[in-house]
Amino acid sequence: ELDEELTQLDQDFWVSGNKLKEIVSRFREELDEGLSKDGQNIPMNVAWVHNLPTGKEKGTILTLDLGGTNLRVCKVDLHGDEAQGKEKSTLDQEQYTLPEELKTGDAEGLWTFIAEKVETFVEDKGLDKEYSKEQPMPLGFTFSYPATQERIDHAVLQTWTKGFDIKGVEGNDVAQQLRDKLEERGLPIELVCVVNDTVGAMIASAYNDSKTIIGAIFGTGCNAAYMASLSDIRKLDPKDERVTATQTPNQSNSAKDQKMAINCEYGAFDNAHRVLPRTQYDSQIDAESPRPGEQTFEKLSAGLYLGEIFRLILLDLADRNLVFNDDDQDTEKLRTSYAIDTGFLSQIEDDESPSFTSTRTMFRQQLNLNPSDVEIELARRLAEVIAVRGARLCACGVAAICTKEGIKKGHVAADGSVANKHPKFKRRWAKALGRFWGGRRSGGAGGWGGGPIKITSAEDGSGVGCAIIAAMEIGRRGKGG
Ligand code: BG6
Ligand code: GLC
Repeated sequence: ELDEELTQLDQDFWVSGNKLKEIVSRFREELDEGLSKDGQNIPMNVAWVHNLPTGKEKGTILTLDLGGTNLRVCKVDLHGDEAQGKEKSTLDQEQYTLPEELKTGDAEGLWTFIAEKVETFVEDKGLDKEYSKEQPMPLGFTFSYPATQERIDHAVLQTWTKGFDIKGVEGNDVAQQLRDKLEERGLPIELVCVVNDTVGAMIASAYNDSKTIIGAIFGTGCNAAYMASLSDIRKLDPKDERVTATQTPNQSNSAKDQKMAINCEYGAFDNAHRVLPRTQYDSQIDAESPRPGEQTFEKLSAGLYLGEIFRLILLDLADRNLVFNDDDQDTEKLRTSYAIDTGFLSQIEDDESPSFTSTRTMFRQQLNLNPSDVEIELARRLAEVIAVRGARLCACGVAAICTKEGIKKGHVAADGSVANKHPKFKRRWAKALGRFWGGRRSGGAGGWGGGPIKITSAEDGSGVGCAIIAAMEIGRRGKGG
């Protein structure tokens, strides 16, 4: 019976080549809808970053990075064209784990926690002595959630994603909420920009690599940003002065040539459940999440959920007495939501120890279970089918942007725990992407490639990217832009 189950799961989780094409076709439509009107399923948020960097940007910027797991505070030094063969940016940073209770608390708790960490950082590094109220230190804020931006230093949270549920932030300007808290503490800091992690990754990568086309995060969440042609962003009025003010005299006035960074927020793809191959376990995750009905694509493909899908399948099989049914097996830990993370699946897939002793130890230590040989085999198969589906779906987002935009080659700058830590993600992603170009898969130092489109690393990109955007913005203001 277990064999039959496994065959069924194999089928349910397999996304065929034809299905990939069907998904990409619908994905393109939803991306277009988001560019034409506000309030569409995929929001295609305008990021107010008008150009890729020249690589010459310089300055010292403080950055804050609120992702899904950590808060990072960094002092970033951009050396631009003065790097002289050395690193173009240097980072001094502190990382803090976000307390679990904060994620379901209130705005006051969130901003107090953040402002406290900024204050400690600023004091520890002696920055409070170097900067003053009159000459404040510029701060860039990487806020990795969907936000409507009227300007680059403003961001109204549309909805929390990645399991966050903090009261009093949705519908509010997070820039102002942060500013207020920093001001209360009298810190000599000026918030210059709010940036999504995908935009940060794209800009950080473009600082060093002119082949960058997309910034993508494959981590706790799943999302991407790219430079869209203004003419394609039909929801933006080309005469809007926020757009015209950025035109430089030697720039062509054609909207086709002018660009604007778009944070797609495509984790929300297919919230209407038209094409994605959802299983009962995906429905269960959605129903039990703080925002049912939202982030359908992300819930099938991102790091926050892969381990949970694995847990729900194992639990279902255990409840039907197909696994872990001996008297000495204790399934209590397996009943705890989110008890298994993507790292668990990565380690299973990476396990080459004789008789998979590492996997057995993980099961024992983390779940208090002693798997039999058959259960180990099952766990290995499950870890694979879940991660393969995730990687193949992740390729669809990038394929949709590239085919829609007519992008035929370039680098997808990737960051996030799944891209960086899962042993097989990049290879699988590249293989699936290759279907859209028919190119041969290549890999190694130059990045894994779906034909001419390659995945490259933007590890820690959002700190640097955010600093570059702040430096670009300060430069623009200096020119009266
Ligand atoms: C980090 C970036 O490296 O990756 C964050 O600094 C980003 O901005 C994060 O949000 C994404 O990865 P994960 O796995 O932490 O969600
Ligand atoms: C979620 C967020 C998005 C972010 C992504 C990766 O999808 O909504 O803003 O870019 O996670 O961190």
